[in-house]
Amino acid sequence: MSSYMLAQGEVLTTLQKLPSNSFDALLTDPPYGLGSKEPTAKELIAYLSGAEMDTGGDFMGNDWHVPSVAVWKEVFRVLKPGAPLLVFAGSRTQDLISLGMRAAGFEICDVIDWIYGQGMPKPATTTDKYIDKALKSTRPVIGTQALSGSAGVSTAEKGGTFGVAAGSATKVINLTAPGSPEAEQWEGYGHGLCPGREPVILACKPFDGTIAHNVLTHGTGALNVKGCRIGTEGGTRKAKQTGPTDSAQTYGNGLNSGTPEPINAGRWPKNVILSEETAAELDATVGDRPSTLTGRADPTKTHDNPGDNGDASWFGGGNSAVYADGGGPSRFFYCAKVSKSEREKGCEPLPLRSAAQVTNRKEGTVGADRPQAGAGRGSGARNHHPTLKPLALTEYLAKLILQPTPEACLLIPYAGAGSELIGALKAGWPEVYAIERDPEFCEIAPLRVAAHTSGASRIT
Ligand SMILES: C[S@@+](CC[C@H](N)C(=O)[O-])C[C@H]1O[C@@H](n2cnc3c(N)ncnc32)[C@H](O)[C@@H]1O
Repeated sequence: MSSYMLAQGEVLTTLQKLPSNSFDALLTDPPYGLGSKEPTAKELIAYLSGAEMDTGGDFMGNDWHVPSVAVWKEVFRVLKPGAPLLVFAGSRTQDLISLGMRAAGFEICDVIDWIYGQGMPKPATTTDKYIDKALKSTRPVIGTQALSGSAGVSTAEKGGTFGVAAGSATKVINLTAPGSPEAEQWEGYGHGLCPGREPVILACKPFDGTIAHNVLTHGTGALNVKGCRIGTEGGTRKAKQTGPTDSAQTYGNGLNSGTPEPINAGRWPKNVILSEETAAELDATVGDRPSTLTGRADPTKTHDNPGDNGDASWFGGGNSAVYADGGGPSRFFYCAKVSKSEREKGCEPLPLRSAAQVTNRKEGTVGADRPQAGAGRGSGARNHHPTLKPLALTEYLAKLILQPTPEACLLIPYAGAGSELIGALKAGWPEVYAIERDPEFCEIAPLRVAAHTSGASRIT
């Protein structure tokens, strides 16, 4: 039976009390640094030398900071050699998080893109509106538009990027035209893109010697490809080439030769994960697309870099089995967004919070009173964490780094309301150690664990 520890405290000081080389992998959704301030070159250098990075707060005004290099160094110390890490990051601050990890000694191996459909452009205000505001020009109203459901709810009011718009009331907004010639010139211009992806950095602590030496000595250092193949059917691989292997064969028909054999084992995990709606949209748009036959094809090899000498690294080649199955893009793996029931499940004993409490807005302000607010007074929320991750996603990611030894232990700093913790327990991690400093989230997480998993015991 799986067990977990949830330590309430600062990540840095909690890590400092843990023994070296004691964790087999790490999964975390740390603060992204999505504040109002762009770091200067001087601040970047200071950050790389160990200082805290001030990005002017974080998402929804939270006083969170991207992990410092000191934190990453402690993570490095407590992880075993070769241990894999999966670290969520913001699309515009991914570089900071990667740099911090590199500065502590980690190797960045890949980035998984989680692609989703919902999201609002940031900022949504167009250039002509900024100009009219600055020039104090009156914009003529040219019509109205009724917004209902999630369209009428801001990200903050939904309770986060992946929050749920529970409001059903309709909001009517005025549509306006430019009120000055200057604004007219800039009509249709904007200042940001609509978010559609979230990166998850795949890294590792450097290996101790070769792959074989590392995994046999430390019990960690590999990705659970078998456990994360996409689907259970379909897929083929090319039989190993038995004919001539001269350059004519290789550069002529060689790479395309060989007879595809069905494997029915599912597809090799990809560095792209689609949300449910993106997958459905792509399926509808792209339709049925058979896969291209490419790649190497020796199923007996787990590490297939050119020369395959067992060098200590996972990235590069890979055992590229080839596929020729059909179906739409959703077969590349998709994961549903956080539903309201997923967010709230297990939190029934907790008090219902108003929109103002959930979104950090002041009581009585327009935003807090709006009935469209997903976390509004009408529906409210008991789990008020603003950056929940879908459990299907956290389970898949935790499974990808699940190590096969019976005592394997996963580290989850910045645990929040427990989405990564639940995913890890569902994925079959025997032991999980999570760290979160906010006492309210530390109250929510175990309730969610109990509701979403069966029989995981908490060690206190
Ligand atoms: C992005 S959220 C993670 C949410 C998580 N994905 C979930 O779905 O529950 C980051 C969490 O880190 C916590 N945090 C921020 N700074 C921290 C620190 N220095 N020590 C411990 N926890 C911290 C915040 O309270 C927040 O809950």
